[in-house]
Amino acid sequence: MKPKHFSIVMGAIFILTGTLFSQDEKASAEYSYIGTNGCKKCHLKQYRSWEETKMAQAFDLLKPGERAEAKKSAGLDPEKDYTKDSECVPCHTTGYGKPGGFVSLEKTPELVGVGCEMCHGAGSEYTKEQYMHLKNKEYKLEEVVKVGLVSPVTGETCTSLCHNEKSPFFKKDQPFDFSQRKDEGTHEHFSLKYKHE
Ligand code: HEC
Ligand code: HEC
Ligand code: HEC
Repeated sequence: MKPKHFSIVMGAIFILTGTLFSQDEKASAEYSYIGTNGCKKCHLKQYRSWEETKMAQAFDLLKPGERAEAKKSAGLDPEKDYTKDSECVPCHTTGYGKPGGFVSLEKTPELVGVGCEMCHGAGSEYTKEQYMHLKNKEYKLEEVVKVGLVSPVTGETCTSLCHNEKSPFFKKDQPFDFSQRKDEGTHEHFSLKYKHE
């Protein structure tokens, strides 16, 4: 190959792999957490009922003195402060260790407990104007799911994230009952008004 042709070919390969890489990066980029208030403004009804659930209060369980008996029987120290313990925080807060996720009670108070994005996925991208937005109420579900929304949340979502053997309170003999937990542990459910197909 003549030197000139060679450099054109190399140039083309360079450009091609360059675009391939940037697409790859985009696909594997993690979306970041925006916090519960970022959902509250458009989903006030879900927010109000979620606030009352155990999920919203899950962080408090890590405080000293909370559920002393349960902690003792699970071999934990009831007087210990587990609120900064990386063995516990991932399932009792939202997005711990991930971009925009929970850091500490002081720095990220909006991400304590099992918040909206723990179940529905980090919202930085899917809440943009071209996706789930008041200007675009008929977004396509498929498109918002591609950019991080988890909907519908299923039993598998719950067991893969938290309700599994990594929890000190996991009971092997009590299988996770999604339909019961959906009523008790998420928020009240309202039918969607718009088309998303
Ligand atoms: C700017 C307004 C807005 C914001 C902010 C917003 N949403 Fe939505 N969301 C909507 C609209 C509009 C719908 C469609 C409602 C309908 O069809 O009745 C929707 C629908 C949904 C659905 C149902 C999805 C489906 O089609 O199955 C979920 C789940 C959801 N939002 C979660 C969230 C979460 C979690 C956040 C915060 C990270 C959030 N939303 C932030 C406007 C918003
Ligand atoms: C893999 C996720 C996960 C991890 C890690 C985890 N938990 Fe939990 N924790 C859960 C789940 C899920 C429940 C609710 C269990 C249920 O009701 O089915 C729970 C419940 C609890 C409860 C209430 C128990 C009761 O019966 O009242 C306490 C207290 C608690 N966790 C403390 C901790 C502490 C302390 C740590 C760290 C040593 C920890 N958790 C680590 C997922 C986790
Ligand atoms: C513990 C998990 C969990 C958390 C936390 C959670 N959701 Fe959901 N969400 C669900 C489940 C489960 C469904 C129903 C899926 C189905 O249709 O079977 C749902 C459905 C929805 C829907 C569809 C309409 C409806 O009312 O069912 C919206 C909108 C929604 N969630 C928004 C939110 C917002 C906003 C928050 C935070 C304030 C939130 N969710 C927190 C699990 C959760």
